[in-house]
Amino acid sequence: MGFSLSQRALVVLAVIICTLTQYAKTQSSQEAQLQAWASSPEVKVGYSVQLIERNPTIDGNNFTVTYTSEAENLALAYCINYVCKVPETRRARSGRSYIFSFKVPHDATKSLLLFSAQKGDYQRYLWIKLDNNGTESLSQTVDSAELQDILINPPEEAVYNPGENVTVKVGFQYPIDHNKKSPMNTRREVFWRAVLCDIKKQKILKDLWSRDLIKLIPLPPEKEYKNLKGNRTYIIKTSTRPVSGYLQFAQKLTLPSNIRLWLSQLYVVRPANQNGPYPDGFIWTSGSYRNESCKYGQTCVEKCSFIGADLTGVDVKEVLPDGTEGDVPTKRYAAPVIFYNQGGFWNHLKAIFWWVHAQRGANDSQDVLTYKCFAFDRTYGNNKTEVVQVQLTD
Ligand SMILES: *[C@@H]1O[C@H](CO)[C@@H](O)[C@H](O)[C@H]1NC(C)=O
Ligand SMILES: *[C@@H]1O[C@H](CO)[C@@H](O)[C@H](O)[C@H]1NC(C)=O
Ligand SMILES: *[C@@H]1O[C@H](CO)[C@@H](O)[C@H](O)[C@H]1NC(C)=O
Ligand SMILES: *[C@@H]1O[C@H](CO)[C@@H](O)[C@H](O)[C@H]1NC(C)=O
Ligand SMILES: *[C@@H]1O[C@H](CO)[C@@H](O)[C@H](O)[C@H]1NC(C)=O
Ligand SMILES: *[C@@H]1O[C@H](CO)[C@@H](O)[C@H](O)[C@H]1NC(C)=O
Ligand SMILES: *[C@@H]1O[C@H](CO)[C@@H](O)[C@H](O)[C@H]1NC(C)=O
Repeated sequence: MGFSLSQRALVVLAVIICTLTQYAKTQSSQEAQLQAWASSPEVKVGYSVQLIERNPTIDGNNFTVTYTSEAENLALAYCINYVCKVPETRRARSGRSYIFSFKVPHDATKSLLLFSAQKGDYQRYLWIKLDNNGTESLSQTVDSAELQDILINPPEEAVYNPGENVTVKVGFQYPIDHNKKSPMNTRREVFWRAVLCDIKKQKILKDLWSRDLIKLIPLPPEKEYKNLKGNRTYIIKTSTRPVSGYLQFAQKLTLPSNIRLWLSQLYVVRPANQNGPYPDGFIWTSGSYRNESCKYGQTCVEKCSFIGADLTGVDVKEVLPDGTEGDVPTKRYAAPVIFYNQGGFWNHLKAIFWWVHAQRGANDSQDVLTYKCFAFDRTYGNNKTEVVQVQLTD
């Protein structure tokens, strides 16, 4: 039974974080004012993956991961074809590291590791795409110098007074520069994105290269995209257009073994008179109504994602032909509960997904399946729904 996951849906979390938008701007005249850089952020959400090993067994590849952590609230999970589990970790014999292992069936097409730690609304999120295509042993070390944090100033969030512009300084420094192909065959991409809310219009601004965003923050020359370097200053023109939300600074590293790591730092921009990244009661969905399709014989992944001030819950129900709402037994949240317990970012961007098995049989007459997603902001007593109609096709 073939999963039709590949083109239809990226990993849900990646979608939340990566449907955002990027742009950047060099302001060399500002470079002189960057003394403040010297003080690196005091955000204690540090952790790093040191070693990923793959050992084949008859029924799957056994992956063993070694990592270190100084984070107070590290959440981690491994996900096989969208099903995420929290591993049992143990201390390595050497003392400071931790180890966990898990088995990935040979036919699994998606296998990932998720790490998240945060302080307030600042989040440092790492996801790793494993390579399950092969039955040889593999041992990939990850040099922690390769994935150091991008320095951001102010370090946790950028707060502005209404009527003023806000300035964010970012130091893209890499101990090892992989922008060009290195002898080690490691490749690096660096970029930034945004999920901002226009506070007056209560509208999300995130589309890449959209006129709205270019006006808000001038875009860099296109050739610089994914290749940002040095100390940069971004002036967000909040004086004319108040916005708030997240900026995401991301580094993507492709290792020789074809393992890929994405390190994202999520960073809040907000006006001083607003408590969090989004205005009270704000809930955004990509649309109130959406059509999807799924071929008979396939298993498709459907999803709904929401952005909001304080999303306390998301859910999905199947709308049956008689109009009643039934449970969706295959529904999953984007990450295990341990992630949501971290609060912050996890309260603001939430997704739910589920599988649709497009089977012929008893329901031949019903070739459209209807689902309704809900998101709640219980603090404000607000909610939003999104209807997804899945057309079953030949
Ligand atoms: C996977 O490998 C680790 C380390 O060699 C071992 O401790 C563990 O028992 C193995 N797990 C499975 C499921 O084979
Ligand atoms: C798996 O690896 C083989 C050999 O390297 C390659 O030809 C194939 O395209 C890979 N498959 C996927 C799905 O990446
Ligand atoms: C904000 O920046 C814009 C564009 O650089 C500028 O025209 C405007 O005067 C600035 N506003 C304030 C209050 O500094
Ligand atoms: C950026 O700022 C830091 C700290 O002030 C400095 O050490 C570094 O050399 C600067 N980098 C560039 C490329 O100017
Ligand atoms: C969804 O499909 C229906 C029936 O095919 C069509 O009438 C409608 O315009 C579609 N809606 C969207 C938003 O694409
Ligand atoms: C067939 O329809 C019934 C009633 O609408 C529903 O409970 C059941 O899940 C459906 N089966 C499939 C395979 O969609
Ligand atoms: C959602 O909000 C509407 C008002 O906007 C309210 O009528 C409805 O009862 C709410 N639904 C739920 C499930 O809370």
